[in-house]
Amino acid sequence: MTSAATTRRSVTVRAPAKVNLELKVGPRRVDGYHELATVYMAVGLHDEVTVVPSDEWSVVVHGPYADHVPTDSSNLALRAARSLAEQVGVDEPVSVVIYKEIPVAGGMAGGSADDHLWGLGLPRDDLLETAADLGSDIPFVLTGGIAVGSGRGERLAPVLARGTYHWVLAVSDTGLSTPSVYAECDRLRGTSRIPLPEPSADMMTALRSGDVDALGAALTNDLSDAAISLQPDLGDVLVAGLEYGAVGGVVSGSGPTVAFLTDSPEAALDLCVSLTASGVASEVRRAKGPVHGAQVVPGPTPRA
Ligand code: C5P
Repeated sequence: MTSAATTRRSVTVRAPAKVNLELKVGPRRVDGYHELATVYMAVGLHDEVTVVPSDEWSVVVHGPYADHVPTDSSNLALRAARSLAEQVGVDEPVSVVIYKEIPVAGGMAGGSADDHLWGLGLPRDDLLETAADLGSDIPFVLTGGIAVGSGRGERLAPVLARGTYHWVLAVSDTGLSTPSVYAECDRLRGTSRIPLPEPSADMMTALRSGDVDALGAALTNDLSDAAISLQPDLGDVLVAGLEYGAVGGVVSGSGPTVAFLTDSPEAALDLCVSLTASGVASEVRRAKGPVHGAQVVPGPTPRA
C-alpha cells in the first residue's frame, strides 16, 4: 500500500484519561468483580490511537509512557480492534499506532477508531458493550464528561455538574496491579459484611454546585488504604500534596496515580513545582476536567 493511500485511510481517535472522584467498593461478586459505585471525571490528558489498514495485526507505541505498554497480543487497543473485527465479521487487519500520554493503561480508542475506519457506524451501545468486555472503566473513556459508574464500573449514568477543575496528577514510576489492589482491599476488610455501595450525597451536591472546596472535601476512594498498603510512598505523596495547598487529594482508581484538586491554573502550577522540588513524586502532570470522551481527530496526520 502506498503511503498516500495509507494516510488517506487512517483514522485517529483521541481518548482521555479519567480520575475517580469517588470510588466505593461493595461486596465481591461470584464472578470475582466487586460491586462499585464510582464517579468518573474525564481529564485533559490523552492517548491517540491511529489505525491503518495493513497486511497483519500489529501495534507500535510512541510517547512518554511507550515503554510501559505491551506490544504483543495483550495490548488493549489491539484487543479492542480485533474484538470489534470479530464482532462485525470484518477480515481486514490493521496496524495500531499509539501515542501514549496517559500514565496508566488506557483503553478503547482502538475499537472506536476501527468503527470509523471500516465505516461501521455501530450503535453506541454495541461499542460500549465491547468496551466493557475489555475493562470495567473503558466504557467511560468513550463517554467522557462526568458519570456515575455502577455494576463493576461499566454501567454509566450522566451526572449533573458545573465548573471546570484544575488537577495535578502525581505519577508513580512503579505500577500497581489492579487485581492485587482489590485483593488487598478484601484482605484489609477481613470478614466484615460490606453493604451495597452508593454515590455519596456530598459528592453529588458538590458537583451540582461547582464548589471546588466541597468537591475537594468529598473526594474518597475505598481502594486508597489497599493501594497505600502495597505502595506506602503513595501515602507520603498524598500528605505532601495537601500540605502544599491542594484543596483535596485522592488515589485515582486502584492507583498508583494520585490526583490533587486545586482551585486555579496558577495553584496547579505551584503545586507541580512544590511536588517536583520536594522529590516526593517522580513525575507530575496538569490536566483540566471535565473533557469529552474519545473523539475522532479530524485530518490525516497521526502523531509519532
Ligand atoms: O475490569 P478490569 O479488567 O479493569 O478489572 C481488572 C481486575 O480488577 C479484575 O480482574 C478484578 O480483579 C478487579 N476488579 C474488581 N472489581 C471491579 C473492577 C475490577 O474486583 N469492579
